[in-house]
Amino acid sequence: MKPDSGISVMITGTGAAVPDRVLTNRELEKTLDTTGHWIVQRTGIQERRIAGGRTATFHLAAAAAGRALRDARVAPEEVDLILVATSTPDQFTVPTAGLVQEALGADRAAAFDLSAACAGFPYGLATGAQFIRAGVYRTVLVVGAEIFSRIVNWRDRSTAILFGDGAGAVVLRPASSGALWYSHLGADGRGADILKVPAGGSRLLASEETVRQGLQYIHMNGREVFKFGVRVMEEELRLAMEQCGLYPEQIDLFVPHQANLRMIETAVERLGLPRDRVYVNIQRYGNTSAASIPIALDEAARCGCLAPGSVVAMVGFGAGLTWGTCLATYRSAAG
Ligand code: COA
Repeated sequence: MKPDSGISVMITGTGAAVPDRVLTNRELEKTLDTTGHWIVQRTGIQERRIAGGRTATFHLAAAAAGRALRDARVAPEEVDLILVATSTPDQFTVPTAGLVQEALGADRAAAFDLSAACAGFPYGLATGAQFIRAGVYRTVLVVGAEIFSRIVNWRDRSTAILFGDGAGAVVLRPASSGALWYSHLGADGRGADILKVPAGGSRLLASEETVRQGLQYIHMNGREVFKFGVRVMEEELRLAMEQCGLYPEQIDLFVPHQANLRMIETAVERLGLPRDRVYVNIQRYGNTSAASIPIALDEAARCGCLAPGSVVAMVGFGAGLTWGTCLATYRSAAG
């Protein structure tokens, strides 16, 4: 989507919610053939949050969404659309977004889930923005929410160290003139096998046999995902800057999908972005999939790394393969 076509869109509020329970590398050392040193050196992750057994994805999603609404000073009744990006919905049906709508009391809102794995949040931003740009809706809540700990095989050291639980949300609204909005999405189904949950869907229903083989868990070719993620972050951000006519120093903050610190550092170095303009919180949350960008965005807003009028760049990538980029203005500099 070119930045100059029609009504623009802006992020007017952010929110996040993570479970209280912290799972440290030291704890993982006790159950897996790994060391905290290896995990930090290869991924940058020191700890992650894990949801308790009674917490479902919609609980985290609704908490993050409620905070984003309060931050944007928007009442639940004003919300036109709730979009929840998740790979770990509460159940196959009903959509998690419907449960969020009910929890918020956003009675007027339409609600649906979006499945684009770790790229779900940029896909959600692009989708939500289209409704605003078309003049159909004025207030859209985009939520990324996951309880990945439920689809991780805690005996598989190559995946168990990576993921965590949480949710983040933003409120989108039409923007005053001068606001930047750019989004670009991509997919490559040929890479479907490098990151997937093999069973539990219509292709291979859950059965005693699939459970015995652990096919309800995430399976991953880490090296291939690593190469893909670095390439996408670099190419997508380069394209975005070119399309928007921006130099790296005009990006106020880059909020990448938090998958692996080494991936982020490699891409950032190739792009020549100043390190202090890159927001990283993977050390505390691990990879929270569709929730990683909005959790980081919310933290960045709270710690003053984002100011009204800031240009923020976001790139997500994940299973599918899918990827998505968004360049947006955070709030209005005019207030
Ligand atoms: N602790 C100790 N050793 C581990 C380990 C762990 N937790 N996980 C894997 N290893 C071992 C491997 O078994 C392998 O041993 P070998 O050489 O004897 O076969 C060795 O470490 C190197 O494995 P490799 O896969 O090459 O490591 P890596 O440096 O690529 O790091 C990942 C592995 C998973 C951390 C890394 O590939 C990665 O982060 N990939 C991207 C994953 C991702 O982001 N997924 C989600 C995308 S949305």
